[in-house]
Amino acid sequence: MMKSVTCTAPVNIAVIKYWGKRDEKLILPINSSISATLGQNELRAKTTAAISKDFTEDKMWLNGEEQPMTSSRIQNVLKEIKRRAQKRKSQEMADDSIHWHLHVCSENNFPTAAGLASSAAGYACFVHTLAQLYGITGEISDIARLGSGSACRSVYGGFVLWDMGTEQNGSDSIAKQIAPESHWPELRILILVVSDQRKYVGSSEGMQTSVQTCELLKKRTEIVSSRIDQMTEAILKKDFETFAELTMKESNQLHAVCLDTFPPISYMRDVSHHIVRLVHNYNKIVGHTKVAYTFDAGPNACLYLLEEDVPAVMSLVNHFYPPVQNGTELTVKGLSIEKIPHQQNIVDAIQLPTQPGAVKYCIHTKVGPGPQVIKSPAESLLDSTGQPKTVST
Ligand code: DP6
Repeated sequence: MMKSVTCTAPVNIAVIKYWGKRDEKLILPINSSISATLGQNELRAKTTAAISKDFTEDKMWLNGEEQPMTSSRIQNVLKEIKRRAQKRKSQEMADDSIHWHLHVCSENNFPTAAGLASSAAGYACFVHTLAQLYGITGEISDIARLGSGSACRSVYGGFVLWDMGTEQNGSDSIAKQIAPESHWPELRILILVVSDQRKYVGSSEGMQTSVQTCELLKKRTEIVSSRIDQMTEAILKKDFETFAELTMKESNQLHAVCLDTFPPISYMRDVSHHIVRLVHNYNKIVGHTKVAYTFDAGPNACLYLLEEDVPAVMSLVNHFYPPVQNGTELTVKGLSIEKIPHQQNIVDAIQLPTQPGAVKYCIHTKVGPGPQVIKSPAESLLDSTGQPKTVST
């Protein structure tokens, strides 16, 4: 007998950034953070987890390759899941099924570890799927947090606050929804993928070095708490200009902290800085803050903007970063964008050189819901014997 569950979970992009831990094992942050959860058609992790009496060991496959389950983070998550499952009383499960071995198969529909928050979606999906499998109800963002800090925010849709909490055991360091995905339907996210290579310093390692060496980070913790209130209010009021300005300042401060880390860390590349200039010049020319950029631990730009401005902004992206092959327009994955020609007077006023080939492709999405359970067996990543349906050789 085999019991299996398949779920998907979203990526989230922080607008108030998490950078630095006060407890490495429990993954407790030095400041609260806020993110928007992105649509899963464009960016999602998918996980199938199965337990069976016939399995002889725990096994895990990630993006088609078998991975050891020995990492301390995976083990911490599993331990907490099993502890909560033990506490639960249910007739559905055979009594000893909690001791059966586990097979987990997971895949992303976007590049892993390219600063596109893959660990957040991955761990949120892992935890949500296991919670379904073992019938665990109630708060699970604290379990996801044990896998990767930012993963706790992917447990909810819409706009999400990760409250840093004050308890030493981390019991109050949990995610809470500020507003559901239906709250601000006009908001759009345009990701400019400039590289899908792995990041050169992982965020866990980077933030650890920042905590140890960065003077600026101490100052930042004071600044962030008031920004949390301002950002929450901007989201609730759908005040785009305040939302956008805070988002950009947060991104800039994160990368300033990275540069003030010793040795310094620089995730942004020339093209990332070019995009920053483009956004500021455009906002200035049109006389409003129409677009915000944000960068995580990688060079890809994530733009927040309103639906009505997407075609004009995309026309500029196509003008400044035209593809070097396959036509004159970049590939856009996700929501379609009405094609309009760029406005020459705006292009001239922006006064920046073009960078052909610098953007590889774009992803266009909006704010989306939290993790989903997928009922159809055809969607399962494991076959009826608990083996992955596709494994790379
Ligand atoms: C720059 O959640 O990947 O994306 O907790 O060590 O797994 P760990 O780090 P991770 O850090 C994400 C950092 C960030 C900012 C953010 O998402 O808030």
